[in-house]
Amino acid sequence: MESAGRDCVTFNLRLRHPSVLAAMAGRNDGKFCRTIGALGVGMVTIGGISVDQKSMTASRKMVERGRHEFLFDDLYSFLEENIPVATETGAVISVNIRSATVAGYVEAAHYIQDSGCVVEINAHCRQREMMVIGAGQSLLKDLHKLKSIVDELESTGITPLIKFRGNVEPEPLILETVHPQAVHIDAYREGEKGFDFSIFDRILGHDCFKIGNNSVNTPDVALKVLKVCDAFSFAQIAWNHTAVKALVDAVPLNL
Ligand SMILES: Cc1cc2nc3c(=O)[nH]c(=O)nc-3n(C[C@H](O)[C@H](O)[C@H](O)COP(=O)(O)O)c2cc1C
Repeated sequence: MESAGRDCVTFNLRLRHPSVLAAMAGRNDGKFCRTIGALGVGMVTIGGISVDQKSMTASRKMVERGRHEFLFDDLYSFLEENIPVATETGAVISVNIRSATVAGYVEAAHYIQDSGCVVEINAHCRQREMMVIGAGQSLLKDLHKLKSIVDELESTGITPLIKFRGNVEPEPLILETVHPQAVHIDAYREGEKGFDFSIFDRILGHDCFKIGNNSVNTPDVALKVLKVCDAFSFAQIAWNHTAVKALVDAVPLNL
């Protein structure tokens, strides 16, 4: 069933370049985003961050067992500190968020949108502390909850990006159930290296903004991804500025 007002919503994202720094929890702060934005990347992602109490408690537990996470007592101070720094290079900023509750997403998303940033719902994290509170990848097992997050946000004029891993649930089912306007898909296949293009073949007919992610390490792969997606993203090569610059330089701006 379509939600009221959905037809009025469009994801109107104009990037100066079809490249995106994907989320890395505990690493992508404002300064890291500024460094990558300065290389000419189109959009940079702050976070992932936990935006409600339950998800922050989960983050603290993850840090106790050695994971990198952003820990803070006040979400708004964190955003106030990091968004302006990330914004300095002119890249679009997205903020990747996790919450146990729909209300947690809505509250944080309003601040993020009011700060001029894109909201990215993290349906990707598969750490058990996040999964047990209904955050991260567990949203793919509860598509009605994911849909209600999207509906709540869209009903107040916020169009989120949905970040998820491919080959977890049938991607056409996710798109048909949730009707996202914009997706950021980690084209991952268990036991294999590289970008799984079959994921995007399966959703070819779905008209939404698509960002393709996973092992986009060379200009050749980036150009191939751009044949099936509106933009490509990268995470782990972000420390290799030469590789990032090669991705930026190899893709003409007027694709
Ligand atoms: C250290 C680290 C932290 C990550 N944290 C997040 C996160 O908080 N939210 C998210 O959606 N994805 C997260 N990811 C996944 C990446 O955004 C990306 O989907 C994945 O690394 C595959 O892209 P790559 O092959 O370019 O690294 C993380 C990845 C790494 C390596």
